[in-house]
Amino acid sequence: MRSVVIEQPGRLALQTRALPQPAAGEVRVKVKFAGICGSDVHIYHGHNPFARYPRVIGHEFFGLVDALGEGVDPARLGERVSVDPVVSCGHCYPCSVGRPNVCTSLQVIGVHRDGGFSDYACVPARNAYPVPAAISDRHAAMIEPFTIAANITAHLQPRPDDIALIYGAGPMGLTVIQTLKGVYGVKQVWVVDRIAERLEMARANGADEVFNNAEAALPQALQQRGVQPTLIVDAACHPAILPEAIALASPAARIGIMGFSGDACTLTQQSITSKELSIFSSRLNSARFPQVIAWMADGKLDPQRLLTHCVPAGDVERAMQMFERDQRTCCKVLLQFE
Ligand code: NAI
Ligand code: MN
Ligand code: ZN
Repeated sequence: MRSVVIEQPGRLALQTRALPQPAAGEVRVKVKFAGICGSDVHIYHGHNPFARYPRVIGHEFFGLVDALGEGVDPARLGERVSVDPVVSCGHCYPCSVGRPNVCTSLQVIGVHRDGGFSDYACVPARNAYPVPAAISDRHAAMIEPFTIAANITAHLQPRPDDIALIYGAGPMGLTVIQTLKGVYGVKQVWVVDRIAERLEMARANGADEVFNNAEAALPQALQQRGVQPTLIVDAACHPAILPEAIALASPAARIGIMGFSGDACTLTQQSITSKELSIFSSRLNSARFPQVIAWMADGKLDPQRLLTHCVPAGDVERAMQMFERDQRTCCKVLLQFE
């Protein structure tokens, strides 16, 4: 089989590897489609502190169960599945309080262990979620990015009357927009980005108002219009954003952050406490696959609106370069395995 391997930072190879055999409790997935994510590019460049090399990357993938390890229900053979990359121990403190995404021995498929940019991938059977016929193969490969949005919004508990502000109209910002609009019915969703084409995608994904902060400063513009966001999501993740979000938030607002920058930013207790703001962080997803699958099957989420490219898996290096360099025309890029 062919596997996309990051042999060491900066070196990507399409390797021929032996067909893996599923261990006890695992299924083998014949991969059909896999999505490229910013974190795959980070592992490629050696910018992910958790990654070990060589590594088969890819944590957003869909395929068919084609072999079973010992103890797995034989009825699962042939099942269409989307794979949750979060592998957790099930008994540590975070696992015991329903937060397997921050398990003390967390293993992320495609980061800590080999992932889905491969003709076949063996994964724990419980991580392979059945996908109903209402969701196409391509869209099923995009369930994972929506689980990120499902996770952060579960912390934020959006209400229809919220005035929402989302920083960043990349794949993450767009899945958050769709979740706020399609699932929670938030009436006012503002989106800010520095790239005009990305703001157009934000509109196509349901944003009510868009703002280009490369052209003018957002805080002043909101103030002039008398807008104080009650719910803010930072899906751009520059360290300067949280202080700005705190400053322009309404009293009693909730702010969600999802960035991994190690750079410092400056905050005061007063700016947070005087408005009694709630700040939530969100990492990956805590068992949100069934919920997102149901939302997608019900038509509340539409992955097609952020899907811009689908390329043969053999073109992975070119696809990753395009994904990284061309934010104006690229959003979600899928690799097709055959
Ligand atoms: P992306 O790079 O495609 O999108 C980020 C967008 O933010 C770009 O369109 C960019 O123009 C915009 N942006 C950057 N700085 C800005 C600023 N100061 N003001 C307004 N817009 C700005 O990235 P993607 O894939 O959408 O991911 C977004 C972030 O979410 C990344 O930092 C990533 O590491 C993080 N992430 C976190 C996850 C989690 O579980 N916590 C999961 C996946 C991604
Ligand atoms: Mn991802
Ligand atoms: Zn655990």
